Amino acid sequence: MTIQSIKPQSDGLNVYWNNGTSSCFPWLWIRDHSESEVDLHPDSKQRQIDVFSETPDNSINKAIVDQNKKNITVKWTDNSESSISFDLLHSMSEVSSPSAQALGDGTYWNSVSDIKIFPEISYNEFMDDGGLNKWLGHIQANGFVLVTDTPASADATKELMERMAYVRNSIFGGFSVWDNKLEDPDDTAFTSLSIEPHTDGTYVHDAPGLQTLHCLKKDSIGGENQLVDGLAIAEKMRIEYPEYFKLLFKINIPGRYIKTDTYLEAKRPLFRINDEEKVVQVSFNNHDRAPFRLDNDLMSKFYEAYKVFHNLANDKSRQFQFMLEPGKVLTFDNWRVLHARSSLTGYRQLCGGYHNREDFESKLRLIQ
Ligand SMILES: [Fe+2]
Repeated sequence: MTIQSIKPQSDGLNVYWNNGTSSCFPWLWIRDHSESEVDLHPDSKQRQIDVFSETPDNSINKAIVDQNKKNITVKWTDNSESSISFDLLHSMSEVSSPSAQALGDGTYWNSVSDIKIFPEISYNEFMDDGGLNKWLGHIQANGFVLVTDTPASADATKELMERMAYVRNSIFGGFSVWDNKLEDPDDTAFTSLSIEPHTDGTYVHDAPGLQTLHCLKKDSIGGENQLVDGLAIAEKMRIEYPEYFKLLFKINIPGRYIKTDTYLEAKRPLFRINDEEKVVQVSFNNHDRAPFRLDNDLMSKFYEAYKVFHNLANDKSRQFQFMLEPGKVLTFDNWRVLHARSSLTGYRQLCGGYHNREDFESKLRLIQ
């Protein structure tokens, strides 16, 4: 969309677009959003203009459209100038409040058969030019990706993870190697026990964005992993159980992690939504849920709603089941996909770690 003409008005600048619509941008807004080198640092892209220390005189001498440079210059009567691009004006042509990035894009899956292109690439493909973008695209579309034929070493797995971004640190360390024979395991993940579908980090304010797992050594029976699309459950509940869906985006559920030297606790709704009621994060961990009590009627409704989610997450027909094995690196979106594990006997050594959600979003923005 291009700008056909502009018309200064008392309350702001009216911009007429070539599709026949118009947008009126207030004068103070234009000053505040000026992209001139003086007002917006050309390298850091950080705002230098401060419209608050002194009240600016927003009366103008003239406003000029430059169709070649595709920007508008406003000359103010105090002899200062503001400059703003067509691109920025266009992206702001509609009024909207800043909104957190919603999960998925209508691509959620209620069973494995809903997944049109199975999210799997080879290690060589991943390490090639464009491989990272394919990998990111698979996670964005389905919430997980598998990289096959990866060298079965901790170094290769760490290198794979660092191709996306630095590995996040947490109470479990950064990139880690562990097995199921720890003397004093900090978490069920480090044992041979089964684990119900859950998301990690319900007890931290900023749950890990992506989780990567690679089984380096395997001499065991059982231990299959299951993945469930939490976004698909959210959208099902939005339609089929609207009252429960609402409860689960309103009620803060606390999670906790208690050890001798650590006591973490955080809370958020099972479905965190943005201003448009789109789901931006799914958080569910029945194992780590902390005690909380609501009014008796509300508590009872909460249990009903939580049970519906729990049972859908545990429904085998919704789950993608597979075995982690040497060479196969799994990465999943911990804000969307729940993971689970069957119990096992024998020995397994795994490695992996977390990425922050914002670093995943950052890479997605750069490839779009
Ligand atoms: Fe987990």
